[in-house]
Amino acid sequence: MMRTSSKKVSTTQPAPKAKKLAVSSAKPDARLLDAEKFLLPTYKRPAVVMTQGRGAFVFDCTGKKYLDFLGGIAVNALGHAHPRIVKVIRREAARAIHLSNLYHNAFQGPLARKLTEWSGLDRVFFANSGTEAIDGAMKLARLLGRRPEEPAGTAAKKHRFLALDNSFHGRTFGAISVTATEKYRLPFAPVVPGVEFVRFNDLADLEAKFDDTVCAIILETIQGEGGIYPASEAFWNRARALATQRGALLIADEIQCGLGRTGRYFAYQKFPSKPDIALIAKPLAAGLPLGAILTTEAVASRISPGMHGTTFGGGPLACAVALEFLRIVDDEKLLENIRTRSADLREGLTRLASKFALIREIRAEGLMIGIELSVEGAPYVTEAMQRGLLINCTHDFTLRLLPPFIITRAQVREFFKLFEIVLAKTPKQANATNSGKSAAPERAAHAAAKG
Ligand SMILES: Cc1ncc(COP(=O)(O)O)c(C=O)c1O
Repeated sequence: MMRTSSKKVSTTQPAPKAKKLAVSSAKPDARLLDAEKFLLPTYKRPAVVMTQGRGAFVFDCTGKKYLDFLGGIAVNALGHAHPRIVKVIRREAARAIHLSNLYHNAFQGPLARKLTEWSGLDRVFFANSGTEAIDGAMKLARLLGRRPEEPAGTAAKKHRFLALDNSFHGRTFGAISVTATEKYRLPFAPVVPGVEFVRFNDLADLEAKFDDTVCAIILETIQGEGGIYPASEAFWNRARALATQRGALLIADEIQCGLGRTGRYFAYQKFPSKPDIALIAKPLAAGLPLGAILTTEAVASRISPGMHGTTFGGGPLACAVALEFLRIVDDEKLLENIRTRSADLREGLTRLASKFALIREIRAEGLMIGIELSVEGAPYVTEAMQRGLLINCTHDFTLRLLPPFIITRAQVREFFKLFEIVLAKTPKQANATNSGKSAAPERAAHAAAKG
């Protein structure tokens, strides 16, 4: 029996047979005990074991049903168990899961072709994750910055990176070096040298820091982890112009905001110019690990065999699934759905903001939505989960919604039914208030950019 909701909500797939695993309140769940004892304590997780998903819903081992408005943090763009994805996985798993990048496989080339059509860029390298794509892009930028007379092994004059305040680019050494949030970076110092942070959307700061020693500026077209803050068009245009003038690369991290999330194939497509490199991952292979570096012919012409590589990246199974993902987005006209559902969500959230004073600001682009609260968001996430709704909180005060592209109007209505109760019933906190400083240090710059 589903505990959360008696209302029947249609999904595109048949309801799963929720297998109830034995969980007794008297006896602690052995899987949770194992996790507690044997995993590195890198995550603070609720004591719930998730077991399956269908469409926009996830189920835990007791059969409890959750409306998934987080989508595996922007990964499950097609929801769970999309029949076409399941079919491709079954078919290709029986053929070849892995073949090695020493050989061509049937899907890398066609997938690369489709990604160049979507992005307007020319060449693709497949990696395993977002952070690995970031590190690869940083290597490309260093490579491009080195002049022929500068010997390998020495620091080229043009070796510095500019990154943005409030940025998040992943967990490997390259990625943490360009990640502004100190708790992700400082414990691991020294990180990759030569990185300077620019105030978010601040043109004067950008111009002051962008000199001939910069090999690349890297930015999220819309900051995700930082709380859903879009780069302004003025900032993008200036970064593009300075990168071109100074012979540096403009690198767009579209790992969270790309591949349809904003209602466009890429978030940068709202701007008049393209980056030199765009990085993607999360939804690309519908939940299988796959990232990619998309770049221009000019950048690609500088790399040669042996300079970069990977064992797993671009394997046949992941690439076949990714190709199917891209086709489904087109076939099911999901960009249209994203734009329509985004409008529904923005309208409903604006209504809630007029009812609940604790909602300070709503920032939304497509199905990438931040709801900034005047109080800490964590208790709202907990309350939502108890009531069968998955959302998360980033930067302490911003509730983040990343629903799947397939979300229906009825599911948006279901969301509002649950979310309004969550806002009303979450116990009020005495002292954790949002001063406007801790959530997003660049808020002033952001507000100024919005005019
Ligand atoms: C904007 C952005 N860049 C990079 C990453 C890192 O991606 P991954 O976790 O796949 O390494 C993330 C992950 O959340 C992200 O949101």
